[in-house]
Amino acid sequence: MEQLKQRILNEGIVISDEILKVDSFLNHQIDPLLMHDIGAEFARRFARRRVTKILTLESSGIAPALMTGLLLRVPVIFAKKRIPSTLTQGFYRASVFSYTKQETTELIVAERFLTPADTILIIDDFLANGEAARGLTDIVTRSGASLAGIGVVIEKAFQPGGALLRERGLRVDSLVRIRRLAPDGIEFVDE
Ligand code: G4P
Repeated sequence: MEQLKQRILNEGIVISDEILKVDSFLNHQIDPLLMHDIGAEFARRFARRRVTKILTLESSGIAPALMTGLLLRVPVIFAKKRIPSTLTQGFYRASVFSYTKQETTELIVAERFLTPADTILIIDDFLANGEAARGLTDIVTRSGASLAGIGVVIEKAFQPGGALLRERGLRVDSLVRIRRLAPDGIEFVDE
């Protein structure tokens, strides 16, 4: 997605050879027009998959997921990272370890929002080690719903998540794939 590549090149800050900061349009300040175009691109790519719901996780997955849901005309569920006091029974829970943040997070989704009749599209902002996507796919499997695939805004292709998910036969569609992060530049996988 050329527009997204340009935004990353113009505004992205390379924090280290593993971490890219894009808080001017995705992770802190959010650009609604860019999110709209991202949603439209995911909607176009998954148009034939008969998606009934989008699943993401708080917080930065919500903006691209919501726009995708708007354009596919389907509801958006976001996994919560804490059990809300209002959710007293009937929820799926998956533990995911973030190598980036070196912490374990719980993903919580109410059972009543996922049914075997659903076809789920998972959307996330970054794909690094694939732990968040693994936790969300586990929840989808346990619910009996079908999985249409995983849409990722920025995949760091030098980290193992994308390969691990694709080896499992899952469809992973990333809008941009980064080959290398360095102080002198950001290299994308040619596609
Ligand atoms: P994984 O899910 O692919 O295994 O990734 P990992 O655990 O390593 O990353 C966990 C968190 O770190 C996620 O945010 C993810 O979006 C974020 N992250 C990973 N790599 C980068 C990066 O290069 N740049 C930025 N800005 N973020 C990165 P989260 O815990 O879900 O938090 P939130 O920001 O969505 O609230």
